[in-house]
Amino acid sequence: MIKVLKISKKYGKKIVLNKIDLEFQKGAINALLGHNGSGKTTLLKIILNLVRPTNGDVQINNQSILNKWEYRKDIGYMAQIANFPENLTPIKLFDLITKLRNAQPINRDELIKQLNLSSELEKPLKNLSGGTKQKVNAVLALMFDLPILILDEPTAGLDPVASRTLKKLLLIEKNKGKTIILTSHILSDIEQLSDFIHILNDGNVIFSGSKEKLITNGNLEKAISKLFLNIKNKQND
Ligand SMILES: Nc1ncnc2c1ncn2[C@@H]1O[C@H](COP(=O)(O)OP(=O)(O)O)[C@@H](O)[C@H]1O
Ligand SMILES: [Mg+2]
Repeated sequence: MIKVLKISKKYGKKIVLNKIDLEFQKGAINALLGHNGSGKTTLLKIILNLVRPTNGDVQINNQSILNKWEYRKDIGYMAQIANFPENLTPIKLFDLITKLRNAQPINRDELIKQLNLSSELEKPLKNLSGGTKQKVNAVLALMFDLPILILDEPTAGLDPVASRTLKKLLLIEKNKGKTIILTSHILSDIEQLSDFIHILNDGNVIFSGSKEKLITNGNLEKAISKLFLNIKNKQND
């Protein structure tokens, strides 16, 4: 389990996260939602120790991760904006990351096949479409069979077939008992995939619980609209 404990993050005077408490469950897909700029990517990067929090702690299996890096070998990460050297080809990138991680890829070739990447492996990344790069990132995150997956907008830019394949793969990973955290703007994806939903707004958690607890009648879009309307009404009281 991943615990976020009173995490705050300020950029200058701007408070992006304000004493956030959250728990991300094992064997489940945890969706992190919120408007653009609500701090989702910042929170994911804090969990990965790529961004230092202003205050608070993050614990994975009851161990603080602050100022540590060893634990990252257990995490597969799909960044919202991945920055790899543009002249590398996917196949060279896979080899490079395999060496850096000093790990054995378990199902790389199967992922390449399923995501229909075989014909793109020898082209430099700079010549690949956004969706194809996203598939490359998906292979990198999934190919080492890691217990934690942190996926920042994993289906963004994917064509419907690839998006469906990736969602199927994520459900398989979940059923292996992995801890999966993802963000997405595509509510139908969240509705299909997630077990737990956590919503950020103005630096605070405005909902954290099971999907069933959030969607009591109707669909996710309705439930979220209602939640934001309630908050607005409270602010106007
Ligand atoms: N390195 C940075 N320096 C200054 N402000 C930043 C930085 N990174 C993010 N921010 C700001 O923090 C807020 C949250 O950003 P982000 O975590 O990317 O939100 P989200 O992923 O929910 O869209 C935004 O207002 C963004 O402009
Ligand atoms: Mg983001």
